Amino acid sequence: MRVLSGIQPSGELHLGNYVGALKQFVELQNDYESFFSVVDLHAMTSLHDPNELRPLIASAKRVFLAIGLNPEKSTLFVQSDVPAHTELAWIFATITPLGELERMTQYKDKKAQGLEANAGLLTYPLLMAADILMYRAEKVPVGEDQVQHLELTGDIAKKFNKQFGELFVVPKPILRAGVSRIKSLQDPEKKMSKSLGPKHYVGLFEHADDIRDKFKRAVTDSEHDIRFDPDNKPGISNLLTIYGAIQGQPMDEVEQHFADKSYTELKEEVAEAVIAELKPIQQRAEELSDIDVAAAFKQGAERAQAEAEKTMREVRKRVGIA
Ligand code: AMP
Ligand code: TRP
Repeated sequence: MRVLSGIQPSGELHLGNYVGALKQFVELQNDYESFFSVVDLHAMTSLHDPNELRPLIASAKRVFLAIGLNPEKSTLFVQSDVPAHTELAWIFATITPLGELERMTQYKDKKAQGLEANAGLLTYPLLMAADILMYRAEKVPVGEDQVQHLELTGDIAKKFNKQFGELFVVPKPILRAGVSRIKSLQDPEKKMSKSLGPKHYVGLFEHADDIRDKFKRAVTDSEHDIRFDPDNKPGISNLLTIYGAIQGQPMDEVEQHFADKSYTELKEEVAEAVIAELKPIQQRAEELSDIDVAAAFKQGAERAQAEAEKTMREVRKRVGIA
């Protein structure tokens, strides 16, 4: 069974990306034939400075290897290294009604936030559909906010199959129970993201002292009891979620563990758990040579490219351009 997922190199990767996505990738690679991509073309919908984008792509590649993705087990590649993705996205554009793209929540949200609604932001789900359908991935680990895009991907697959004959597999999401929205440390109603500002997130390469400091200052509430109750205690619930995800413990065990402890102790323990988790990742990232990173992604791009070409040969024939 095949799995595929992508991460945008649109900012320094943070604890939300790690807990919500990357950590699962490492587990999935043992059970599935896995494709993991640094989706740089997607990042271009929001990033237009080459001096910013280039190091972010480089850093994301390094992170993939540092967290333990194994290039012998998984196909690790940068999206733009396989140009067929944009070709397939174009073909999908020709069979997708504009209204289907305009109704996507992420597009509407980004527009509402005042982001420049360039055509790439609108057609973003077509490129994502191409990423997935190209490799006939059956399962796609995503956060809740991407489920709508995945449903559209399924619709596109069905539409293509109906019009041009059975070819694509309708993918299913692997939802990361409980962790698909790690919250900001300062504003626990909001998703942890880099754009909120440095106090809101923990970067994967941050120094232990800074991590301790950020958790110490994490927003909680004026009560004293530690329980998982995201509606009434978003800050505490977020800390418990982070702890559980990192320790691999179910929430009832996490609650029990902290039942008689103070908020200060909770923050300290979560910080130490995060530091212990990130330390070996930071160490590996430092030890990896540029040559190792380049070699892993070259091998991945070649494998992805070969698979993509198989699909595209068939697609081109079916639609009548070959
Ligand atoms: P992005 O940087 O938006 O491409 O996100 C990469 C992956 O990390 C996606 O699968 C997101 O769902 C996930 N992700 C990003 N931020 C968070 C967060 N705060 N909590 C959980 N997952 C997140
Ligand atoms: N849109 C996804 C996100 O923001 C990233 C992505 C691009 C992706 N292509 C993908 C995720 C293919 C899964 C599969 O998280």
